[in-house]
Amino acid sequence: MPTYVRCVTSAPAFGQQIPESASQEVEFISLSHLNPSTELNPIPTRGIDLEYFRTYVRSLEEGGYDYTLLPYGSGTADSFVLASAVGQLTERIKPIVALRPNTTFPLVGAQKLATLDQLTEGRAVVHLISGGSVAEQARQGDYLPKDRRYSRTSEYIDLLRRAWTEPAPFSHDGEFYRFDEFGPGFAPYDSPIPISIGGQSDEAFQVGGEKADIFSFWGEPLDDLRGEIERVRAIARASGRTTLPRIWVTFRPIVAKTDELAWQKAHEYVAKIADTYSRLAYGKQALQQKGVPQNVGSQRALSFAEKADLYDRALWTRTAAVTNAGGASTALVGSAETVAAAILDYVDAGADLVSIRGYDTLADAVDYGKHVLPLVRQEIAHRKATGRRGTLQAEHLGNYAEDYRRYATAGRA
Ligand SMILES: Cc1cc2nc3c(=O)[nH]c(=O)nc-3n(C[C@H](O)[C@H](O)[C@H](O)COP(=O)(O)O)c2cc1C
Repeated sequence: MPTYVRCVTSAPAFGQQIPESASQEVEFISLSHLNPSTELNPIPTRGIDLEYFRTYVRSLEEGGYDYTLLPYGSGTADSFVLASAVGQLTERIKPIVALRPNTTFPLVGAQKLATLDQLTEGRAVVHLISGGSVAEQARQGDYLPKDRRYSRTSEYIDLLRRAWTEPAPFSHDGEFYRFDEFGPGFAPYDSPIPISIGGQSDEAFQVGGEKADIFSFWGEPLDDLRGEIERVRAIARASGRTTLPRIWVTFRPIVAKTDELAWQKAHEYVAKIADTYSRLAYGKQALQQKGVPQNVGSQRALSFAEKADLYDRALWTRTAAVTNAGGASTALVGSAETVAAAILDYVDAGADLVSIRGYDTLADAVDYGKHVLPLVRQEIAHRKATGRRGTLQAEHLGNYAEDYRRYATAGRA
């Protein structure tokens, strides 16, 4: 267990000048949970608790989130069916369907997505998963090695877009897919359905940089993430694209009224999360591979956790360390102001979409909607109106200030 280590440069100046790399807009994503079981308090469930799911999805919409992610695994509920339910339970929030190409023929995937898009009057988004675990892929009969999985995803993207746009029947004889005289396919509501890619292997960057509308990351230290963002953009430019992929970053915030209270909560939470993970008691943890994760995103999260607990203003890696970095696992710890300021640091680095979900799932989703999203949006509106940065980032320094470090240390097991 590394001793408490923080990795922080001296406090950057948060003056009025808005960094050139800053995104001008920010949208929020949160994952939809299906039942009250959590990593803090894992309880046996059937899977879908309908009343809870309805409340969850509606709370995200009322909370001002722009998107909700329906994740996918061989042992989870089906993301398409869930997305269709989200579409009928809400008016505005956009369902993001996590889709693994090995599970659905591309023309059928295009048909399902276009159907969802028409049923929601243009709210469908797809997040293509090439698969980070050989064992998990094999559970559904997929035995392609990773680099081939990404090549398949690349062909898949082309076929999704052709199925949605080709006015006349067309045939295809590709490396992974073949068909004759398909089309015209069922069309999206009125515009192309955004395609997102997740993953940080070389193959992920190549396919995502060349073809994705959105490229997604799990939360990393700012300097490291800036490098990753520049990497995917360079590939996009080199491929001749004029529009660069939008950048999605994911965090697990731990928020309370003050930084001090947030740290007390964080230390309590990480002990519970570690216990749950040690018993593989939550969700599909039992399906996760043991030992070093195969997907690059998790490997990176563990290497950051190895090196330090705390980065930049509020990024905490202990939650990744105690869960073998399975999925989104790095936290932002602090008051709503400190966490909002930390999110703005990532917006300044180029993040367009910020995904946040807490460990106390529904309560946190509602809390962030009341206290965190408005602060970030206020600052974005201020910047638009004045051309200058507001004072939130300068006033709530988090780990750039001595007090915060003391709270981060106190109560650490
Ligand atoms: C924001 C985000 C959401 C993801 N959601 C899922 C998911 O629902 N199901 C899944 O199997 N993988 C999911 N992944 C994993 C990746 O999509 C990817 O397939 C895997 O991590 C392999 O990545 P690698 O290329 O970095 O090794 C997600 C990744 C990110 C960044």
